[in-house]
Amino acid sequence: MIYFSNPKKYQLEQKRMSDLIKRVIRLVENDLTKHGIAFSQEFEDDLPSVLVNENEIVEMLLNLIINAIEAMPHGGRLSIKAFSKLDQNQQKPFVTLTIKDTGEGIAPEVQHKVFDRYFTTKDSGTGLGLSICERIVMAHNGDIKFESEQGVGTTFIIKLPAA
Ligand SMILES: Nc1ncnc2c1ncn2[C@@H]1O[C@H](COP(=O)(O)OP(=O)(O)O)[C@@H](O)[C@H]1O
Ligand SMILES: [Mg+2]
Repeated sequence: MIYFSNPKKYQLEQKRMSDLIKRVIRLVENDLTKHGIAFSQEFEDDLPSVLVNENEIVEMLLNLIINAIEAMPHGGRLSIKAFSKLDQNQQKPFVTLTIKDTGEGIAPEVQHKVFDRYFTTKDSGTGLGLSICERIVMAHNGDIKFESEQGVGTTFIIKLPAA
């Protein structure tokens, strides 16, 4: 609906999640190396495409990956996986993306605030990244959540409707 009523503002295209991730990894490759972060990726065979606004999904991935890098100042591992799953109730196909780091984790007492606009624990953070990610995922009728343990790491889990 959004696409047909306002094509310029919100262009949706069928994209392979693996292509989008590869594009973003190329942008951050130097940062990963510089911080001693190992990277691994795993894509399910025959993963369906997603119907997305490419620029927005790239922006979302960049925000999440930069957060992961910032959580691992002394190195670690970044693992990205993509697989598809049927939605429990509606049997609608989704693509699930997990972005996992072995960083400092998110303290339990602030976990409910991380998607809030301007919430940051960083000296020079803007606190805008995750609120932007949430808005982008919502605009795609998707879902974003995370699991985190202090001293162990954080995994962001993003679900996007398959095309
Ligand atoms: N991967 C992560 N590991 C640890 N903490 C994180 C991670 N991602 C987000 N956070 C926490 O959520 C806060 C908000 O993130 P964000 O909205 O991107 O703003 P910013 O990066 O400018 O602080 C961060 O300051 C940090 O405390
Ligand atoms: Mg950020």
